[in-house]
Amino acid sequence: MPDPDVLPPEVARCSVAVDLHDAHGDLAAAFAGLAVPERLRDAVRKRHIEYLAGRWCAREAMRARHPGHAHLAVSTRHDRAPAWPDGLVGSITHTQGFASAAVADGRVVRSIGVDSEVTFTVERARRLGGQFARPGELAALAGGAWDEAVIATAVFSAKESVYKCLHPFVQEFFGFHAAEVVALGADGALRVRLVEGLTHEFRAGYELCGRVVVTEGHVHTGLAIGR
Ligand SMILES: CC(C)(COP(=O)(O)OP(=O)(O)OC[C@H]1O[C@@H](n2cnc3c(N)ncnc32)[C@H](O)[C@@H]1OP(=O)(O)O)[C@@H](O)C(=O)NCCC(=O)NCCS
Repeated sequence: MPDPDVLPPEVARCSVAVDLHDAHGDLAAAFAGLAVPERLRDAVRKRHIEYLAGRWCAREAMRARHPGHAHLAVSTRHDRAPAWPDGLVGSITHTQGFASAAVADGRVVRSIGVDSEVTFTVERARRLGGQFARPGELAALAGGAWDEAVIATAVFSAKESVYKCLHPFVQEFFGFHAAEVVALGADGALRVRLVEGLTHEFRAGYELCGRVVVTEGHVHTGLAIGR
C-alpha cells in the first residue's frame, strides 16, 4: 500500500493492507519467517494478524534502507514498545485495513511515533471526544478543511503518535490530557504541545511537529524528533 506521507524522507516506511478479521488465510505463508512470540500464543487470531503484519512491515522497511539489520528480530520490550535492533529507532501501527512500520538510523533521528486509525463516525467522535481531548481542544480545531469526525480521529491518533514517540524517554504511562493538538492544517501540518511536563527535556510547552494524512477510511499521523 502507499505509505502515508507523514514522516520526513530519512525515515523508511512500509505499509500493507490487512484484514484483521480474516478467518482462513495461512498466516505462516503470508508472514513467512516471522513467528508470534510465546506470550501471544493464546491471544486471539486478530492479535496474531496485527502483530505479524506490523513485524512484516518493520522487516520490509529495514530491508529497503537498513539491509544489514533486516535479518534481526524486532522483539517487544517490557513496556510493549518494539525493541529495534541496535542503532535503529522506529514505530509500528496497525488497525483494521492497514498496518505500517517506520524505521530510521538512530544517529539521524532520535525517535518516531506513527499511528493510523479507522476514521471515527460522528457518533463515536462525540461520545469519546471528552476522553482523549482537552476541554476546547476539538472546537479550536474546527472550521478548517476537516470535518468533526476527521478532526477527532486526528487528535486521537496524534496523541497515540506522541505516546509512541516520547515513551522511550518518559518510561512511564502518560495520558491523553498531557498534550493538546494546537494545529491541524489543510496541508497536513500537525503541531502538538505538551500541557504537562514529562521529563526535564520534554517540559510543558514543548512542541512536536508532524503530519496528518486522511485517506479513504483512515486517518494517519506521524511525528519524528531529529538529532
Ligand atoms: C501504547 C498505545 C499508544 C498503542 O496504541 P494502540 O491503540 O495499540 O495502537 P496501534 O495498534 O497503532 O499500535 C500498537 C503498537 O504500538 C507499539 N507500542 C506499544 N507500546 C508502546 C510504547 N510504550 N512505546 C512505543 N510503542 C509502543 C507496539 O509496536 C504495538 O504493536 P505490537 O504490540 O503489535 O508490537 C496505546 O495502547 C496506549 O496505551 N495509549 C494510552 C496512552 C496515550 O496514548 N497517551 C497519549 C499521550 S499524549
